[in-house]
Amino acid sequence: MNVLLVGSGGREHALAWKLAQSPRLSALWTTPGNPGTGQVSNNVSIAVDDVSGLVGFAQSHAIDLAVIGPEAALEVGLADALSAAGIAVFGPTQAAARIETSKTFAKQFMQRHGIPTARFAVFDQPELAIEYLDCLDYPVVIKASGLAAGKGVIIPGNIEEAKIAVKNMLVGRAFGKAGEQIVIEERLQGEEISQLAFCDGYTLALMPAAQDHKRLLDDDRGPNTGGMGAYAPAPLCPPVLQAEILERIMQPAIDGLREEGMPFIGVLYAGVILTEQGIQVLEFNARFGDPETQAIIPLLKTDLLEIILACTRGELKHITLDWQDGSAVCVVMTSVNYPVKSALPTPIHGLDGLPPNCLAFHAGTSFSHGKILASGGRVLGVTGLAASLAKAADAAYEGVKQIYFEGSHYRKDIAHAALNRGCSKYKSAGVDIDAGNRAVEMISQSVKSTYNQRVLAGIGAFGGLFDAAGLLEMSAPVLVASTDGVGTKVMLAAGEQRYRGLGIDIVNHCINDILVQGAKPLFFLDYFAAPQLKPEILAEIVAGMAEACRSTGCVLLGGETAEMPGVYLPDEFDIAGTIVGVVEHSRILPRGNISAGDRLIGLRSSGFHTNGYSLLRKLFEGDDLKQPLGESSETLSDALLTPHRSYLDLIMPLLNSIESPVKGLIHITGGGFVENIPRILPINCGAIIQLGSWEIPPVFRLAQMRGQITDAEMYRVFNMGIGMMIVASERDVPKVQAAIPESTWVIGEIVEDNQHQVRLV
Ligand code: AMP
Ligand code: GLY
Repeated sequence: MNVLLVGSGGREHALAWKLAQSPRLSALWTTPGNPGTGQVSNNVSIAVDDVSGLVGFAQSHAIDLAVIGPEAALEVGLADALSAAGIAVFGPTQAAARIETSKTFAKQFMQRHGIPTARFAVFDQPELAIEYLDCLDYPVVIKASGLAAGKGVIIPGNIEEAKIAVKNMLVGRAFGKAGEQIVIEERLQGEEISQLAFCDGYTLALMPAAQDHKRLLDDDRGPNTGGMGAYAPAPLCPPVLQAEILERIMQPAIDGLREEGMPFIGVLYAGVILTEQGIQVLEFNARFGDPETQAIIPLLKTDLLEIILACTRGELKHITLDWQDGSAVCVVMTSVNYPVKSALPTPIHGLDGLPPNCLAFHAGTSFSHGKILASGGRVLGVTGLAASLAKAADAAYEGVKQIYFEGSHYRKDIAHAALNRGCSKYKSAGVDIDAGNRAVEMISQSVKSTYNQRVLAGIGAFGGLFDAAGLLEMSAPVLVASTDGVGTKVMLAAGEQRYRGLGIDIVNHCINDILVQGAKPLFFLDYFAAPQLKPEILAEIVAGMAEACRSTGCVLLGGETAEMPGVYLPDEFDIAGTIVGVVEHSRILPRGNISAGDRLIGLRSSGFHTNGYSLLRKLFEGDDLKQPLGESSETLSDALLTPHRSYLDLIMPLLNSIESPVKGLIHITGGGFVENIPRILPINCGAIIQLGSWEIPPVFRLAQMRGQITDAEMYRVFNMGIGMMIVASERDVPKVQAAIPESTWVIGEIVEDNQHQVRLV
């Protein structure tokens, strides 16, 4: 048989993958398809709503059977046109598809046939709709009647929001077309399941019930989407409940459509909500669901082509569907900014080498110069298959972990609600998706976002592998390494629940420590210790580390998470890290030529960086850190917790210049001016710092006043607004200052002094 499959999403890839396994298939064409369908069928670039183009193609290629994926094709009457051309079609007529394409039709149809659904009314006049809202004593949802790609439903928080939604929809035409209607219906409470069935107009064959995850973010937060993941079978919907759905919803719908003169051939999909009062239909769809299909179809053992053919011939009752015993979980990976904005195409890595019980279905992908690109929206559906729901979820996330593309997003909790509900044996057997695995899952995308071609092994390996062949291009590479910790700033940040900045702190601190020896970073490894692992906190911290690493081209090559109850008090934790960088031997800093008369040029700090927090915590103990600091909206908490800045981008161009004027660099860290400046002074030199030669940020003054602290002490503990100093000859000062794209100050000079002192004058 020659088969035409219409569509280009993950659903169509799953269908093409299954159809391609049929012994009855001669040729499979997918229009327009995607790189995934291209692996199992022939893609032809015809749009799903180009009815005459598709009919023409079907005729010229002797298509025996057409399978229609998306509702957009049904709405424009593709099934009708193909049938009229004598081609067998799996997918309902334009009239029958109204059960999905017109919510007004669907609600009135359900009412006519006694199918349980929420109370409702239909409006096309905003005044009448608003009057109606004023009379109701229950919460509502407001729906645009026509297709709106999942964006046509508003769940208002109160009556005012409901009225605004009505006006937007009917007056502003926010979602619908001109002349559009809206449905106002009672808002129901309960779990939602997706029940799909094959139909031949008379008979139904139910698929395993599935559950979709419509919201963008974990724990069902964030905006509605086309669907972020699905699993099947749904433990919430055991066979008895499926039987009730068949009897009270699916069969009456199929019979009703036939009796009204529009027999339904295709997949009928009921979105059912399980309320305390029983099952109710939220919506019907006239097609396979997406991503549900990506979880359901891999469980099907029977030949899909056989089933579909039987549907088009009214012979479904002669077929028995055979399903695998286990479960399937599909996790959708989207592009950055989905569902709000589209993203630029970016290469996908790791599609080869997925675990054997894992399938990757393509949706928003494209093919260019031999590479598969993520080209926006829902990019991939990664389906795991296993004997239990828990293992299937593990398999799917194993697959997701292998795949990387820039800006990828996925939910970390697909199927978790079902697992936690106790519907499966998973939790009771004590095998929770334990915090450790969850943490690795949560941080792996951040870590991978820092990788470059030099990373040969990273997360999950015993040791990270970093290809050093690139260093061969240098004439005499010297590796520079440093380890440091964030210190007690972690406690202040924990109190404020601001974790991300701590990750930035440790990376930038380490970057600056090796920068002062002239090195640029290659890779970083972190260490996180806590009495009890809280994956969400670790994920935030690591996201901060990854952000800082990315912005300086440093790889986050590995790390260690230590759970140490009894060593740290509850809610305490510690963060440390190690960095390795490289410098040409001839460019190691400080140079040997620092001498009396050289100037110290100060670069502004972003705040306290990572030093002086034991004192700061005492000074501000009991203060409301949310109070504004001055005129601006900056709070004390903001000022105290601003992340440590990196000076790499500011200074590296100067270090790379042919005759670098930089004789030395001083990172003002623990020990302030007094202890850090001498670290680079020649044996017979000291330094003078001119107080008042730069602006000290107000928060340092505030700390000083608060503790009645002497200047000497302040300069021994804090950076006083100067995070980095450059040592240069007096003659080179203008050159240095011109090369740094922000305000800098000459704050002091090197003087002869056998005592090696730093004097504040
Ligand atoms: P629909 O496009 O009708 O599936 O609506 C999208 C989502 O809106 C559904 O998955 C539900 O989460 C929600 N929704 C729709 N109708 C109702 C309702 N009557 N009560 C509560 N939630 C609803
Ligand atoms: N997953 C929801 C839909 O296909 O409409």
